[in-house]
Amino acid sequence: MNPPNEPTRTAVRAATVGWKYGAVFIGYYGAVVHGLPGIDKITEVSEMSAQELIATAKAMVAEGKGLLAMDESNPTCNKRFEKLGILQTEETRRSYRELIVTTPGLGEFISGVILYDETIRQSRKDGTLFVKVITEAGIIPGIKVDTGAKDMAGHPREKITEGLDGLRNRLAEYSQMGARFAKWRALITIADGIPSRGCIEANAHALARYAALCQEAGLVPIVEPEVLMDGEHPLERCFEVTAEVLRTVFSQLYTQRVALEGMILKPNMVLPGKDCLTQGSVEEVADVTVSCLLRAVPAAVPGIAFLSGGQPCELASARLNAMNLRFKTRMPWALTFSFSRAIQQPALEIWKGQKENAAAAQQALYHRARCNSAARLGRYRIEMENNVDSRAG
Ligand code: 13P
Repeated sequence: MNPPNEPTRTAVRAATVGWKYGAVFIGYYGAVVHGLPGIDKITEVSEMSAQELIATAKAMVAEGKGLLAMDESNPTCNKRFEKLGILQTEETRRSYRELIVTTPGLGEFISGVILYDETIRQSRKDGTLFVKVITEAGIIPGIKVDTGAKDMAGHPREKITEGLDGLRNRLAEYSQMGARFAKWRALITIADGIPSRGCIEANAHALARYAALCQEAGLVPIVEPEVLMDGEHPLERCFEVTAEVLRTVFSQLYTQRVALEGMILKPNMVLPGKDCLTQGSVEEVADVTVSCLLRAVPAAVPGIAFLSGGQPCELASARLNAMNLRFKTRMPWALTFSFSRAIQQPALEIWKGQKENAAAAQQALYHRARCNSAARLGRYRIEMENNVDSRAG
């Protein structure tokens, strides 16, 4: 038989795509509206584990709560310690992480914490595993599972995140240790002539394969494509790049059959490069970021939790707050935080590796968690910064 001519081929393609989207829609509509099987037809996981994934994802972005990233790799953690003159040993990293997870009242504002491989195996001084301490505080434990961003072959100045080899077995082990969600971070750099399409596509593909493996293992994937703040580029350039990256990521997630209802997106806010002379107001950043997300992130995603990316703590809170305040009724997903530096940095600077500073450091951590929880609700006020709550520590 002769191959169909172009119009026929186009019609066949359109019908196939239409059927696929139609089937997904009917399945989803059925599940939501009539309680019919739905999500398990979209992805390969069973109906029961799909419901568990959805419940965990919703709990991670619950009203008034957000995530605390404490998953710095040993080299990153050591670098931050070194700057403050803190000894860089397994024991100092352990006692710093103990300080964090034993902060009184942390569970009021924090839904989940992201751990690192070394940390998930560590315990409080009295021998209680951190995972148990965290769970007893009403917080969900999660784990970073990528093995870092490496130079990308053929793509000077760009990175590709590694960690897919052996991931199925590692996820099974982490799940057995009590982790309920995972994180994978891809890094996208803006500079002259980059990011390249090759870098965006390779990172999006890896994120989607990671996310599918997580759901298979019953873990909610946090999908983190981070467009870095480094550079002199204007806000518009970050908008363009972030939109392209997110669209590519969601296309790959669809191709790899990831159930959007059972994942969390962790993007950057749309910001001008940190060396750009025009920085833009809090409201401008909020408006541009939410428009970018509205255009690129499907409504089926339950929550978006921002990384802080090196923004000053108070500014990160103010920007998140402005988004929730100005767009509350127009956003289909929960919008919250998954900060590391913008929650931890003040506490780390107070602690400095000294036991006698631990209580004050916990107070500072509790304070930032409280401010960001308020921002999650659109109730953050700069005056809150003068009122460090003394309940913690
Ligand atoms: P920052 O909030 O410090 O950017 O860290 C978030 C994170 O998890 C990076 O992967």
